[in-house]
Amino acid sequence: MLVLGVESSCDETGIALYDTEGGLLSHALHSQVAMHAEYGGVVPELASRDHIRRVVPLLREALGASGRRLADVDAIAYTQGPGLAGALLVGCAFAEALGVALGKPTLPVHHLEGHLLSPLLSSRPPTFPFVALLVSGGHTQLMRVTGVGRYELLGETLDDAAGEAFDKSAKLLGLPYPGGALLSRLADQGRPGVYELPRPMLHSGDLNFSFSGLKTAVLTLVREQGGNLDEAFKADAARAFQEAIVDVLVKKALKALKQTGLNQLVVAGGVGANRQLRERLDSEARRKRFQVYYPELEFCTDNGAMIALAGALRLQAGSQPKAAGEFAVRPRWPLADLMIG
Ligand code: KG4
Ligand code: ZN
Repeated sequence: MLVLGVESSCDETGIALYDTEGGLLSHALHSQVAMHAEYGGVVPELASRDHIRRVVPLLREALGASGRRLADVDAIAYTQGPGLAGALLVGCAFAEALGVALGKPTLPVHHLEGHLLSPLLSSRPPTFPFVALLVSGGHTQLMRVTGVGRYELLGETLDDAAGEAFDKSAKLLGLPYPGGALLSRLADQGRPGVYELPRPMLHSGDLNFSFSGLKTAVLTLVREQGGNLDEAFKADAARAFQEAIVDVLVKKALKALKQTGLNQLVVAGGVGANRQLRERLDSEARRKRFQVYYPELEFCTDNGAMIALAGALRLQAGSQPKAAGEFAVRPRWPLADLMIG
């Protein structure tokens, strides 16, 4: 079965072809990061317009690289939500229209399910069940994943998402949008222990997170400098911020493993690209004898491959695709609604 995947929930347009026999055949991606950087954040209207411009050329690119024809596609999976309504509408309308034109069914997919399952695209995939730490620009959640469509929320952020905290702190330190990866690079040059930032909810006794206080602590540090942010300060502050947030993410992930009795941890979402987070988790995994899995770096941030994969796995798990034509996007969509069986 050949599944075409379409992603357009935020600022990346992604198209991919996933074959249930042959795996991922091809994927094509366009990131709008450079376009939004000028405004310091994603401008929803510009995002929607850019998805419209990119989606057909990306489909051609992915098809060309896959060696298959459009007529070979058996079903079209696309991100129905959560995300920006206008951006979602582009991918959704495109996928449904293509489905009508080809006479092929469609399958709406939850964006976070794509992230959750994305480590299955790697050459060394995890097996069910596992604990997933989902850390993206919009979400921070710990989940027990027992199979496709079987997700139990163990804990989540009560305010900012981890990626959002990275991006907002980066902005406070004068870095351009989206600052997460840049802040992380800067932190590598910072000295450890120069500043001590709070580890919010570390001892809350549950698996929830809160990061807005950490961002405020960065703001306070910045204000104390009286408007003079030299490079050494920025690097030391970035280091302190990264150490605090990574510490909380690692300790809560360990707690989730202990609580569930599972010994596999999957890290998904854009912050999963963070090097310090990976190093800390790898060393804990060696010490505490659990396995940790990450998506390939290119599949950490938004992409079409994870949507094609999630669609294919859903179809294999018994989800019925629908006749193409009618659709609605779901900008807000709790993952709990997805349970199969
Ligand atoms: O998963 P994703 O593409 O977006 C959502 O679906 O929300 O993740 C994007 C987020 C951004 O906040 C970005 O700053 C962050 O992931 N990010 C990083 C790194 N690379 C991307 N955060 C920390 N360290 C990184 N290396
Ligand atoms: Zn995402």
